[in-house]
Amino acid sequence: MASPNPETLRVLLERRLSRRRLLQGGASLLALAAVDRPALGAGRGRLAFEPVAPSDRDEVLVPPGYRADVVLRWGDALFTGVPSLDATRVASGALLAPDAPAAQAGQFGYNCDGLGLFALPDGGLLVGVNHEFPTPALLFPGWAEAGREGRAAFVREHRSVVRYMQAAVGLSFVELERTERWTCRVSGRLNRRVTAASPFELRGPAASHPLLRGSGGEPEVVAGTLGNCAAGPTPWGTYLSGEENIDDYFGNGAAVRSDPDLARAYLRLGPRPRESRYRWEFVDARFDAAASPREALKFGWIVEVDPFAPNAPGKKRTALGRFKHEGATPVVTRDGRVAVYMGDDEPFEYFYKFVTEGRFDPARPERNRDLLDEGTLYVARFDEDGTGEWLPLAWAPTGPLSPAAGFRSQADVVLRCREAADRVGATPLDRPEDVAVSPITGRVYVSCTQNLSRGAGRIEVGGRVVATAPHAACPRAPNEAGHILEIAEDGDGTARTFRWEVFVLAGAPREPGLLAALPLTAAPLEPDATYFGGYAQAARVSAFANPDNLGFDADGNLWIVTDGAQPGGANNGCFVCPTEGRERGRVRRFMSGPRDAEIAGCEIAPDGRTLFLSVQHPGDSGRAVAPGSRWPDGGDAAPRPSLIAIEPTDPRRRLGE
Ligand code: FEO
Ligand code: CA
Ligand code: CA
Repeated sequence: MASPNPETLRVLLERRLSRRRLLQGGASLLALAAVDRPALGAGRGRLAFEPVAPSDRDEVLVPPGYRADVVLRWGDALFTGVPSLDATRVASGALLAPDAPAAQAGQFGYNCDGLGLFALPDGGLLVGVNHEFPTPALLFPGWAEAGREGRAAFVREHRSVVRYMQAAVGLSFVELERTERWTCRVSGRLNRRVTAASPFELRGPAASHPLLRGSGGEPEVVAGTLGNCAAGPTPWGTYLSGEENIDDYFGNGAAVRSDPDLARAYLRLGPRPRESRYRWEFVDARFDAAASPREALKFGWIVEVDPFAPNAPGKKRTALGRFKHEGATPVVTRDGRVAVYMGDDEPFEYFYKFVTEGRFDPARPERNRDLLDEGTLYVARFDEDGTGEWLPLAWAPTGPLSPAAGFRSQADVVLRCREAADRVGATPLDRPEDVAVSPITGRVYVSCTQNLSRGAGRIEVGGRVVATAPHAACPRAPNEAGHILEIAEDGDGTARTFRWEVFVLAGAPREPGLLAALPLTAAPLEPDATYFGGYAQAARVSAFANPDNLGFDADGNLWIVTDGAQPGGANNGCFVCPTEGRERGRVRRFMSGPRDAEIAGCEIAPDGRTLFLSVQHPGDSGRAVAPGSRWPDGGDAAPRPSLIAIEPTDPRRRLGE
């Protein structure tokens, strides 16, 4: 970025202030001073910790006056009678043993990701945790060494590794209790593992789709959930989880090209054309599209699980569309309906919301049980003037989602949701991931993690050709460091229109690269242009990149965890910034993770003191015999993805103080 002269800066700032007025909707000129008002919750909940320095050390670092406890490690037994993993034996092949899968099915799963917290009446917590994917190169000696060509032979020789991976993914629900620190209640009544084999029901429009019914019209049996990425609790006490990179699990997608219905359903989200990432198809025909062509269509949904009914099957809520679901963030609207915000995490994909038809009834929980089966699905169009529209993805006898356009029913629309969104004119974004809604302002924040293909021209991606040019909502080309969008609904979550602006353009904030003001007309911007909500003191901001999961504390501070290459080669971490007041956009590093890990989760306990984070895939640049991390056990132990809890050591202090 060239350094803007003072006159340009003044003009930019004025434009920015008028943008803020627009975003705040009907605010008076006086209210513009909101930009300069003191931080919300001054004197209470103020962010006063000493930021953690960037680090490449193989450990979890937190600010002075805080402690980080490992709560659950991959392989910890959740039930009495189940052995816990001995991580020192992974490199010698312990997980190749035929009895390893059975043990894993009773242990905390691999690669913990999004999580949800539920208060228990006795003061404990029930935590739901996603286990997004296996990392076979770290689990099984020989996998990495076999190379691409040798993986099929490796899997055929060690058939139980597929069952092991199937038991290591899915979800965990675990009761926690507070003693000196948060610990797992082994054999807690609500402890539960959901794996790639657990029963699910398909609900909503796609449950009646011809591709998802048996030859006699009976509902298809659905086994398992896969690619579970971000997550969260609903207002009625269930757990939502997004099925994201489901294409990694299925192979032989090219085999269905001769079937027009299947080929079209696969076009924007299907199995890999040849070998899958994890090679399950070589020993389990369910994951071979040639043998089981419908199976992949049962994945790519939002799943809902009742953590308080450990024997009830989960439900796949197909009304919310099929795509690479990062997660689902529900909010209750003024009239009692529920809006659910959802990102589709792939370059040039879209931002969605679902608004329920029915109303949330806090007094009668049973009435909320199937709220997510009826409602309207929308996809966002971001206009260059800072306004936007929610475009309904609703089947109609005429128009873009009609039989003439190849959509025979709403079942077709939700099954081929990405294609439907293409047709109504949604705005392609830079990997829209997690969403968080401010409890103070109601504004909606969505991470756009990265898009290295943002630039000039057109490319073929995700089964269609798309223009890659930057636009106001994705202004940098290429977008290496990612950004966060801020959305104000015109009203509440039921609105059909909204206003928006870029909240943060992540990266290393350096003068003059730090923009004090970001006009909507800014695109295209250089890749290293940064913007921190208008905060202009570069030296007081922590460099960060690739925002992924987001969370809010009760004071309206936005918590951000990262997944990607950090400025200066630092490890991924957790960051936090106010979204209002004088320090709006002042991002500070609160935690630094171990090597080769991404940080996920990002949920705050009801007491407002404890931050729960997932440390995912530590050491994944290496292989089982030479991992890139030894965290958390150290010595010669395998790295273990783990759930951690961070809190102030002084019991009188709140998180962030
Ligand atoms: Fe699974 Fe989009 O991170
Ligand atoms: Ca994620
Ligand atoms: Ca991620």
